[in-house]
Amino acid sequence: MKRRNLLAAVGAASLSGLAPAVQAQAYPTKPITVIVPFAAGGPTDALARVLCQKMSEILGSQLVVENIGGAGGTIGVNKVAKANNDGYTLLFTHMGTLAVNIALYKSLPYDSLKDLEPIGMGGTNPMVLVTKKALPAKNFAEFQDYVNANQKTVQYGMAGIGSASHLGGLMLNSMMKVEVLEIPYKGTGPALNDLVSGQFDYMVDQAVNVLAQINSGNIKALGVSSLKSLPQLPNVPTIDSSGLKGYEVSIWNAFFGPKGMSKENIARINDALVKTLSDAAIVKRLTELAVDLPSKEEATPAALATQLKASIDKWVPAVKSAGVKPE
Ligand code: MLT
Repeated sequence: MKRRNLLAAVGAASLSGLAPAVQAQAYPTKPITVIVPFAAGGPTDALARVLCQKMSEILGSQLVVENIGGAGGTIGVNKVAKANNDGYTLLFTHMGTLAVNIALYKSLPYDSLKDLEPIGMGGTNPMVLVTKKALPAKNFAEFQDYVNANQKTVQYGMAGIGSASHLGGLMLNSMMKVEVLEIPYKGTGPALNDLVSGQFDYMVDQAVNVLAQINSGNIKALGVSSLKSLPQLPNVPTIDSSGLKGYEVSIWNAFFGPKGMSKENIARINDALVKTLSDAAIVKRLTELAVDLPSKEEATPAALATQLKASIDKWVPAVKSAGVKPE
């Protein structure tokens, strides 16, 4: 081989050998779309925006939240499941859309375990039973009596089949043994506006979304879904201790990518997430909103994969035994 050709061959070989490492370091080089499968202004959106803002600073590329609500989050999740896996389309969603809805839809357009790559846990939220201000019940026992006596007219709001608010509401209604009308929204952000203006009676929603309206006196909080009461709502007892023994629902929220997203790119996003979750200002802000943040070990992609599987194993039989027919 002539010297010039030999040099060219060596150059090409070393360049191609370097290429993956160079690419891995380079990611991301442009904005990343983060699909939130619910309306803006709700709990998933709020948590996504807090985390994405800090992660954008760390990554040096913007994480741009895009809200694609509807059908209990399945439209937005499906969009990510079918998206290019180059790392520039991600999902931030909660366990309802990936675990609970398996029991609630006859067929889903995606397989939560096969079509997505877990990236990392963002936080777990307790839920709160909130009612319109005018509902004539001062505590959970009075609420139960009221709903029981008015089943034909009472309406509860939720963010579509398989959403977190649907899970919270259907477990509550099933354990109270009542059947009431469901009012579906594209997210509990818009649902909350309607609850404040008294257009339906109650909903069970993630604390992060409802604390401000409770504290302003625009809606009433009659129970929390965790087994311990919340420091943020010291006067609101747990639903479990108020007569509905065993009622417990909390909602985890996490980042995923489309199947086949590279391990390097997953690690890069996960690293930014872990750094964000240990940032003092983020921890303070989210703790005030009752978000339970994962430890470093709980925030790994592997831990999220385990959590997803565990949630499917827990909630699919629980929802089926609540007697809800898949749609
Ligand atoms: C839900 O009920 O699934 C959530 O509240 C969705 C949301 O609006 O973020």
